[in-house]
Amino acid sequence: MAIVIPVINLKGGVAKTTTSVGLAEMLSSEFKKKVLFIDLDPQTNGTTMLIGEHRWKDLNDNGYTLARLFESALHPEEFTFDLNRTLQRNVSNILSVMNLDLIPSSLDLINLQDDLTRIPRGRFYTNHPYDILRKGIQPIFNHYDYIIIDCPPNLGLITLNGLRIANGYIIPTIPDVLSTYGIPQIINRVNDFAWEISYPIETLGIVITKFKENSNVHQTNRAKLQREIDAPLFNAVFKENNQMASAADFTMEYATFRQKWGYGGQFDAFYNLANEIVERYERNEN
Ligand SMILES: Nc1ncnc2c1ncn2[C@@H]1O[C@H](COP(=O)(O)OP(=O)(O)OP(=O)(O)O)[C@@H](O)[C@H]1O
Ligand SMILES: [Mg+2]
Repeated sequence: MAIVIPVINLKGGVAKTTTSVGLAEMLSSEFKKKVLFIDLDPQTNGTTMLIGEHRWKDLNDNGYTLARLFESALHPEEFTFDLNRTLQRNVSNILSVMNLDLIPSSLDLINLQDDLTRIPRGRFYTNHPYDILRKGIQPIFNHYDYIIIDCPPNLGLITLNGLRIANGYIIPTIPDVLSTYGIPQIINRVNDFAWEISYPIETLGIVITKFKENSNVHQTNRAKLQREIDAPLFNAVFKENNQMASAADFTMEYATFRQKWGYGGQFDAFYNLANEIVERYERNEN
């Protein structure tokens, strides 16, 4: 059974995409897991980090993105979503990343979001607008050990499609006042949704991103998050670092994870994050 983990925050720019791409690459390259990355964000940043803009544009022009899945759900009489062609196999510009696949996003998702409440209910009234992704990827769901989902900075219907199949989710945050402000609301909303679908969704934890060691605000907010009881804090901390930002450039090629993400502790941070997750889910196996 695949373990599904969306990466969520209502705030923009807190490194959701960076965290989810690095985590997916880490699980694939160092933990030898079979990983699927689903890009639910119409900004398509995760997609272009993993396959580059040219290949994305080609796919987008041909309708091989998630937008087509959501469109098809709105117009089931002309269902044209082609999972096999949409699924991009062996992605990433790191050579040691072997088993990472991608379901790309599209800017067209922006226009679809509001229409999703109007999907036809189906013959047996079983179609929910948050069930589209679950149904769409059902044929490949169990081909993977982990499914990492990058989400847009909101808890709209598209994000709920990711939460619908989630085992647990991660909240990346910059440890400053404005970025941490909405975290309790996220946890409450996810709990309400888990209740509605009668399926437990675990708050795996908060991940500190873009951490500035010499900032009092960051230190104070980190200590605050450590004391929070609503959600555990991952031990892994991502410091502010230029090479983390350069990793967004797909046009470079790298042999190893370390080469792409840099030598300033980023490898250890991603390794520890992945390890905490793997231990959480594989503790009781063997
Ligand atoms: N540790 C870091 N140090 C420096 N820059 C970083 C770090 N992590 C991420 N960044 C940069 O910060 C910017 C925002 O990161 P990212 O796109 O991952 O955030 P996001 O939460 O996905 O944003 P959005 O809400 O727009 O989807 C990007 O330019 C990224 O390269
Ligand atoms: Mg993003």
